[in-house]
Amino acid sequence: MKILVINGPNLNFLGIREPEIYGKQDYNYLLNMLKDYAREKGFEIDCFQSNHEGAIIDRIQQAYFDSTDGIVINPGAYTHYSYAIHDALASVSMKKIEIHISNVKERESFRHVSVTRPACDGQVVGEGLKGYLTAIDMILGDGAGVSPGNNEPATR
Ligand code: DQA
Repeated sequence: MKILVINGPNLNFLGIREPEIYGKQDYNYLLNMLKDYAREKGFEIDCFQSNHEGAIIDRIQQAYFDSTDGIVINPGAYTHYSYAIHDALASVSMKKIEIHISNVKERESFRHVSVTRPACDGQVVGEGLKGYLTAIDMILGDGAGVSPGNNEPATR
């Protein structure tokens, strides 16, 4: 089982950007947390971060060729307007879960819309960095840790 975790713009600035919203842990902390979880659960993980829309699309397309089994994606602000990332996600058939560290549903109204969500199989919001592990569990088919409140189960 090979899982790709994609982080979009400004997520490399975790720990620096708005810590009251995104927490004090930095991007490296997130990477280590993900690698530890992969070791613990016995799956292969690849992590990718870019501040550029095209690079994110290229990486999603690459996943079609490199036998990726599932994608966890935090598209950052692209969530709210990138039809190009929506289309790239819709192009590949493996399981895809969108994740947001903050509770986008309770923030500014422009964050209430996700144009990328319809191309995914589920969404996790507002669980902090642990939400990445919840999203991975949704791909692994392990419901443990999925709180029924904010998270939408896989529907496709
Ligand atoms: C985010 C929420 C987005 O609205 C924001 O633009 C981000 C991070 C989150 O993880 O909570 O960059 O995706």
